[in-house]
Amino acid sequence: MRVLLTGGSGFIGSHIALLLLERGFDVLILDSYVNSSSNVINRIKAYLDKKDLNYKLKSINGDIRDKKLLDNIFIDSIKEKKPIDTVIHLAGLKSVSESFSNPLHYWDVNVIGTLNLLLTMKEYKCYSLVFSSSATIYGLSNSVPMAEDHKISPINPYGKTKVAIENMIYDLYNSNINVWKICSLRYFNPVGAHPSGLIGEDPIGIPNNLFPYLTQVAIGRQKSLNIYGNDWDTDDGSGIRDYIHIIDLAEGHLASIDYLNSKESCLEFVNLGSGKGYSVFQIIRQFELSTGCKIPFSIESRRDGDVAKSYADISKAKKLLAWTPKRSLEQICLDGWNWQLKNPYGFQ
Ligand code: NAD
Ligand code: UD1
Repeated sequence: MRVLLTGGSGFIGSHIALLLLERGFDVLILDSYVNSSSNVINRIKAYLDKKDLNYKLKSINGDIRDKKLLDNIFIDSIKEKKPIDTVIHLAGLKSVSESFSNPLHYWDVNVIGTLNLLLTMKEYKCYSLVFSSSATIYGLSNSVPMAEDHKISPINPYGKTKVAIENMIYDLYNSNINVWKICSLRYFNPVGAHPSGLIGEDPIGIPNNLFPYLTQVAIGRQKSLNIYGNDWDTDDGSGIRDYIHIIDLAEGHLASIDYLNSKESCLEFVNLGSGKGYSVFQIIRQFELSTGCKIPFSIESRRDGDVAKSYADISKAKKLLAWTPKRSLEQICLDGWNWQLKNPYGFQ
């Protein structure tokens, strides 16, 4: 089965690519490398070569907004008699702060890029799609756990582009409910790394998110962790989030493909998280315990757009996709630290 994986050299995409290839899928990665390194592809190949696996991987450097390029990818696949069966669509921009300073760029890449991709899929009769949505679409709410019917009210342009894409997908499905098979996966907080230490998260510049910031403090790239508020309405006063091991998240995509393959047609919006909430202090404590590193921190004022608590109700994913997250917070810390230790400056 041939899968087109857009954004396949990014943090999440690279882990999905590796799992797909291990399972014998024929994978075409399309990525413009605006937020990733082409070294990722070499790392994936090195891992599979070491395991002596036969694999079918092709990486294409290009932009999802380039319609001609998309046409050629689908046409070439048809010519090779290996048409694309499923698209896993992750390519896009994800920085909340950048989406405020340059919203049109976010609408262009995320929404126009997806429109382009969906038009091409329709044209070449590829009707199976897994899309990466985000828990950010639930907006400012402390009512936890959050199920899929939770109110959608994004509070940043990035989140609004994800809602626009979910709406586009909804309309597309309803235009021909006999053919389309779509899962829109709403990720919570993907963290950690592949246990090999060959691939992991490598944010450009100073990390915005807790986990990569924490591992960079541990390795000495950042001096101290800023904790954004210790006066939230939580047990220890710090914010609570749903951290999911990146391999559990990647496995959710393989389960989604299995699910789509078992259906004639479908449209599902599904949360992918661990289903558990941990506070910033709990994360620091577990990281220190698992790795022996000491994390210096200071308490700062609250960050705009934060909420006290956010974690997922994952009962739908468990039931529908027959998927369950298996890795503990300790495993997340160990694998995340292993990656950072082996690659202090990421893929550079
Ligand atoms: P990432 O930035 O590491 O990966 C995205 C990839 O898309 C990058 O490799 C980038 O180079 C590529 N890309 C960007 N614009 C492109 C374009 N126009 N054409 C082709 N490729 C392009 O981010 P990630 O964390 O792996 O996220 C993947 C997807 O998951 C994104 O759509 C993101 O919005 C979504 N998501 C991420 C998180 C998270 O916390 N990481 C949470 C929820 C949803
Ligand atoms: C953030 C984004 C969200 C996006 C998600 C994934 C904001 C307000 N939210 O979510 O839209 O979908 O990343 O990219 O930007 N924290 C610290 N110190 C830090 C970093 C974070 O104390 O240096 C705290 C935060 O206040 C929060 C928790 O750690 O309580 C997790 O933060 P983060 O990793 O940024 O994830 P989200 O806030 O869930």
